[in-house]
Amino acid sequence: MKKAFITGITGQDGAYLAELLLDKGYEVHGLIRRSSTFNTERIDHLYKDFHDPEARMFLHYGDLSVSSHLIKLLYDIRPDEIYHLGAQSHVRVSFDMPEYTGDVTGLGTLRMLEAIRKTGINTRFYQASSSEMFGAAPPPQDETTPFEPQSPYAAAKVYSYYVVKNYRKAYNIFAGNGILFNHESPRRGETFVTRKITRAATRIKLGLQDKLYLGNLEAKRDWGFAGDFVEAMWLMLQQDKPDDYIIATGESHSVREFAEKVFQKLGLDYKKYVAIDKRYFRPTEVDALLGDSTKAQRKMGWTPKVTFKQLIDMMVEADLELANRERTLLNAGYRNVKNRLI
Ligand code: NAP
Ligand code: GDD
Repeated sequence: MKKAFITGITGQDGAYLAELLLDKGYEVHGLIRRSSTFNTERIDHLYKDFHDPEARMFLHYGDLSVSSHLIKLLYDIRPDEIYHLGAQSHVRVSFDMPEYTGDVTGLGTLRMLEAIRKTGINTRFYQASSSEMFGAAPPPQDETTPFEPQSPYAAAKVYSYYVVKNYRKAYNIFAGNGILFNHESPRRGETFVTRKITRAATRIKLGLQDKLYLGNLEAKRDWGFAGDFVEAMWLMLQQDKPDDYIIATGESHSVREFAEKVFQKLGLDYKKYVAIDKRYFRPTEVDALLGDSTKAQRKMGWTPKVTFKQLIDMMVEADLELANRERTLLNAGYRNVKNRLI
């Protein structure tokens, strides 16, 4: 049985990837942070108590800012494949917490690579690189487009990208960068713009909220489905040689269009509910992302399956169910109803 180690297993991508690897028969080990509240909501449905002989997913406490955790875990587990997804991943937050973002999102990758080198384990390493690294570079972007990072987050990802390439060359480690464009799902964190919109629009529909405050509506993104994108991560580590790949849909839409379509699906006019709040603007913005994933298609046979419309439908339907539950509980007299994803 192959063993995989996932950092960021509690995040959107970590949950889809853990599902995929368990389906493929892997033993999955995940790094989780100790928290005073539960942070395993997205993977609870996959968890079996470790006393259960059928358990194949194991969680280990640790933090990307502490290298001794990573060295000990890799030495003990000796995974065949490592998917490094853990990061402070919010671009706007990286302007408020630049030093922390540099430490976790940038140096965290170096700590992982050093853990591989120091333990001497034979493994394959996937780095969650990002289209955000292209920043101000005009679209379309592919593997040859120069990086022009526009945030502390993007700068930290550029650092990670280059240390991955360096460790591949210097120490012959099987390590590759997946340069993923934005990917979304019903499991997307609620402060990223797509989920913020689907969550708010469905709550507005059911009378649970009046307004939705957003920032720059003109930014354009190449939005895909996270479930499709984690398949590309796995494919990258099954190739004969390590390499770097763009993973994208090749379609770009504005935040305004996303909002318009979501409200439209609910029979509402977004202009009546969306207001602009300058606090959501970024000191420097990435205006337009549009990826060319020809290389991934040609070399690995990867193509996205879920369309932009299907993605919106999926997210709206899931959030409508959450809003319905909230409405039902409120109607039954409950207050302070907490919504949870399943
Ligand atoms: P996410 O939902 O924000 O998940 C981030 C994960 O990192 C969570 O599991 C989080 O743990 C963990 N983490 C944060 N700080 C950590 C620390 N100090 N030590 C250990 N773990 C830590 O992100 P995502 O959307 O799944 O994205 C996965 C990766 O792909 C990230 O590296 C992101 O930057 C990158 N990426 C994402 C996209 C996208 O569109 N989604 C596109 C390109 C690249 P908690 O649950 O405890 O917070
Ligand atoms: N979050 C947020 N909230 N974004 C808003 C809002 C708002 O209220 N209003 C407008 N936007 C705009 C942002 O300015 C940005 O141009 C766009 O919506 C997308 O923002 P996010 O959903 O926060 O994603 P991102 O593109 O900044 O970053 C995501 O994608 C990257 C890949 O390109 C994250 O998942 C990163 O981790 C990832 O690397």
